[in-house]
Amino acid sequence: MKNIKQKAGTQHAERVSTGVPSLDDMLGGGFPRESLILLTGNAGSGKTSFCLHFVAEGIKKGEPCVYVSLGESRRQFIENARRFGLDLESPNFHFFEYLTTQKAHAAGPFQDFLNLVVKTKAKRLVIDSISAMIDSMGGQSEARSAMHVIFETVVKRMGVTAILIGETGIGRSESNSDFTHFVADGVILVKLEHDLRTGRYSRQLRIEKMRGAAVGDATLPFTLGDAGVVPYRRFNSFFPDKAYDTRLSTGVEGLDDVMGGGLFRGSTVLLKGATGTGKTNLSTTFVNEGLKRGERCLYITNEDSVAELKKGASLLGLDEVARGSDRLRMETVDTESMEMYELAAKVQQMVEEFRPQRLVYDGISGLSPAFTNQEIKYFVKMLRGLSKETGMTTVMTNTISIVGALDNPDEAISSWFDVMLILRNFELDGAMVRSMVLIKMRRSQHDRTIHEFEIMPKKGIIVKGGFKGLENILSGSAKRSQTVAEFRLEEKEITKRERQERAARKTEFEKRKKAKA
Ligand SMILES: Nc1ncnc2c1ncn2[C@@H]1O[C@H](COP(=O)(O)OP(=O)(O)OP(=O)(O)O)[C@@H](O)[C@H]1O
Ligand SMILES: [Mg+2]
Repeated sequence: MKNIKQKAGTQHAERVSTGVPSLDDMLGGGFPRESLILLTGNAGSGKTSFCLHFVAEGIKKGEPCVYVSLGESRRQFIENARRFGLDLESPNFHFFEYLTTQKAHAAGPFQDFLNLVVKTKAKRLVIDSISAMIDSMGGQSEARSAMHVIFETVVKRMGVTAILIGETGIGRSESNSDFTHFVADGVILVKLEHDLRTGRYSRQLRIEKMRGAAVGDATLPFTLGDAGVVPYRRFNSFFPDKAYDTRLSTGVEGLDDVMGGGLFRGSTVLLKGATGTGKTNLSTTFVNEGLKRGERCLYITNEDSVAELKKGASLLGLDEVARGSDRLRMETVDTESMEMYELAAKVQQMVEEFRPQRLVYDGISGLSPAFTNQEIKYFVKMLRGLSKETGMTTVMTNTISIVGALDNPDEAISSWFDVMLILRNFELDGAMVRSMVLIKMRRSQHDRTIHEFEIMPKKGIIVKGGFKGLENILSGSAKRSQTVAEFRLEEKEITKRERQERAARKTEFEKRKKAKA
């Protein structure tokens, strides 16, 4: 075993495309040539689908490919590939049905398989699955020596790049063939998860190890659809090593002061508030200010039409937005009909093409429940990465409940934002009052007062002073602190009076007792 491991440690320079471009990018061009890759994952996670791409890529390049199946027929397999738009009908494609019915003759099919690899001068090999092949062999020692043959003879001597598919049980993340894990040059894990809330499946692939390749972010979320395995567009820099100290005006009167001088360039802002609290109006104000300053602005919404936004802007006196400009791009996206990888790619592309200095995404609440929390988190993280990378300042809105608890289920994304501003309408004396509070602003001192604000025709949003003598504003129904104090005083007096009365009754009782005696 030791020899094998040492030998396998040699660096591979040449790469073999996996057939999935994003995965190739992650691996620096593909699998190292002449390597043994273990691909494991739970049932239905997409292991075979990945290998369809790997084999189709080989066929495209004119390389002989051997696919060893322990369950599927050749016809089924070719049909599956065709559904993904992959053509395997070629003299270079060799399908080997590994029959495991007779345990005693297990050495037979293995020898036949080896002969086929030699005869066809295969360059690519897939064994689907190695777990089933090992199970079909007499015992651990037979399995071990078969693995040696595959590794030493097939991969290293004959120069084949091989994928061995391993099956993992429910809740287990390791292959049931530990020594395969040990000799493999690369280990890739594919995971399928079912989100009970949305009813959607989410898939992802993780590179656990890969000799001779520096793998940075080793996780790749993907979907399985008409085009086979489609990874989300690769996003390499969730944490670009950049920091900015230029401040930008929000355009909202009074808000820059609350923020200690405005928003930092490159920051991400979460604007949280119930429906109708002013999230969209504040976002358009932010964009209007950018336009006034000659900046490029991109406004993406899944909640309003562009015409409505412009109309609303005009009513609030946000003329730059209302008028439109070649530095302004406003776009409505129908996220209901999209997969996350499509939405993320679309937004990423818009940002890369248009190069905005200000971006609004209104709003992330519209993404649930169509997307899983995992997908929404990916989206937020991607926009955060893009903002840091390009120095664009991004505002994303999120809707919360009108009254009561402020929490919502996607609270987990809050830490991906540099700034969190809450807009809260609260009830006072039978009416709703607008308030806003800056919950956090990373790397800055800021005002933590709960401010009153107004949305005024032609004048827009105006932030006013704090509320004096009010409590429980963020709960949605404020109390006058005065009333609370008065209530407490009254409570105290009642207690005092009760104590005095009790003492008087006691004295009276004692007096009567003495008189009787
Ligand atoms: N022209 C205007 N003049 C004064 N107030 C306005 C004007 N336009 C809108 N408003 C106020 O702003 C509120 C809507 O603000 P906005 O659309 O920004 O809220 P939102 O938080 O984005 O809500 P939603 O959840 O519907 O997206 C309206 O309910 C109204 O009170
Ligand atoms: Mg809105």
